[in-house]
Amino acid sequence: MSGQDHVFIFDTTLRDGEQSPGASMTLEEKLQVAEILDEMGVDIIEAGFPIASNGDFEAVSEIAKRSKRSVITGLARAIHADIDRAGDAVRHAERGRIHTFVSTSPIHLEHQMKKTEAQVLDIITDTVTRARNLIDDVEWSAMDATRTPIEYLCRCVDAAIRAGATTINLPDTVGYATPDEYKAMFEQIRENVPDADKAIFSVHCHNDLGLAVANSLSGVAGGARQIECTINGLGERAGNAALEEIVMALRTRSDVLPYDCRVDPKFLTRASKLVSAVSGFPVQYNKAIVGKNAFAHESGIHQDGMLKNAETYEIMRPEDVGVRATSLVMGKHSGRHAFRQKLEELGYEIGDNAFEEAFRRFKELADRKKHVYDEDIEALVENEIATQGEQIKVIALTVIAGTGGPQKAILTMDVDGKHETRECSGDGPVDATFNAIKAIVPHEAKLSLYQVHAVTEGTDAQGEVSVRLEANGRISTGKGADTDTLVASARAYVSALNKLIARQNRPDHQELKAV
Ligand code: KIV
Ligand code: ZN
Repeated sequence: MSGQDHVFIFDTTLRDGEQSPGASMTLEEKLQVAEILDEMGVDIIEAGFPIASNGDFEAVSEIAKRSKRSVITGLARAIHADIDRAGDAVRHAERGRIHTFVSTSPIHLEHQMKKTEAQVLDIITDTVTRARNLIDDVEWSAMDATRTPIEYLCRCVDAAIRAGATTINLPDTVGYATPDEYKAMFEQIRENVPDADKAIFSVHCHNDLGLAVANSLSGVAGGARQIECTINGLGERAGNAALEEIVMALRTRSDVLPYDCRVDPKFLTRASKLVSAVSGFPVQYNKAIVGKNAFAHESGIHQDGMLKNAETYEIMRPEDVGVRATSLVMGKHSGRHAFRQKLEELGYEIGDNAFEEAFRRFKELADRKKHVYDEDIEALVENEIATQGEQIKVIALTVIAGTGGPQKAILTMDVDGKHETRECSGDGPVDATFNAIKAIVPHEAKLSLYQVHAVTEGTDAQGEVSVRLEANGRISTGKGADTDTLVASARAYVSALNKLIARQNRPDHQELKAV
């Protein structure tokens, strides 16, 4: 295929994805996500918003240093300080990019920016020039492009290209466009901007109407050659276009989407699991490509057809996206080797320390539970990944519950290497447990979500608990799994609390004013 047919995959899980309330990640987690994105062949990784905080800056620069194949970019508002900071953060990348943006729609100009069209045109020229003086690879985005009159959008794009932008991104920021409209916008811009062929055009779609992937592919039909997306469609509100859906649509329907894409789909399942674990956002069961049921055929007619010939109902094979056929049944006699093989089968690659801890917990679980299913191991490993390096850990919990009341919890936690124990009562065993956590680590956070679901069937199933905490407008989500739902509850709460503490000195992206 010619160079014109290559579609660049730009992943923004670590920037637009991480920006969604409750999805914040630690540095270690961001490095793990970036590593798999780089390995799977993502062309460009948007690693963060360097001006947002020292943590974001550190994450972008560390990812820039480590990345082997991907271009690394950092986001910057149309402000010199932002652009300089982004330039500093990507300085060590083999291939770095500055991505700067400004709003262009009348509603943003009037209410948010309080600037005229002419002023915004000057800002575009000034800021893209500033970025080009720092680096050769500069992306410019017209925020809310799809609600911007096309004549004015043409003038903005023209100004950005003249100032040296090499990629022009036209986002559907509020997820409002339809596929036909989005395609027409790219066609019109490419027809009417004189130097349009000097830049690569990019799509960036939000999923408010569930059209993000359709719009992205439509934008490509209109001439765009870069797709901005996130793993699991993670992102603000209804999220961004899902990378795994884009990649598999391009591969599965290459007959009508004849574009070349470098991403190796065998990594999709692993990447999805990792992002779900570190963000605390579960993947819905019926999510395309990476949902638990994405390849499950339940109805009799489908099962009958599948047994005769898989292609009767299957347009992709699970192994294409990295799901391996289960070969090993795990139990209390399974050793280290079998456990490692099982993790590989399930798509996990974890470091030695995390492996040892996960193995220890697997053995504990196998002692308590007759059948250890894949879902049990997934819950256990995801918990292990999400809790690595935590400052506060649950060590022991005893709860006295029942009709008599008051319910009591005796909890021991490790706080910065020191064991502390408290006994508290509460309105029920969960309340007593959470009160004991508050007694050991006093905090003001409000519990805004407490959710339990059984990982598998049976009364000995593990309970997986999700907890969401809110403090000073910041939100964090934690998950915990155990055959004892109260232990799982304590772990989930403590995981959310750890994330909240890690974010304490970090300003929210939302607090940054747009220019
Ligand atoms: O949705 C959007 O407009 C964005 C820009 C910052 C690219 O995320
Ligand atoms: Zn966005």
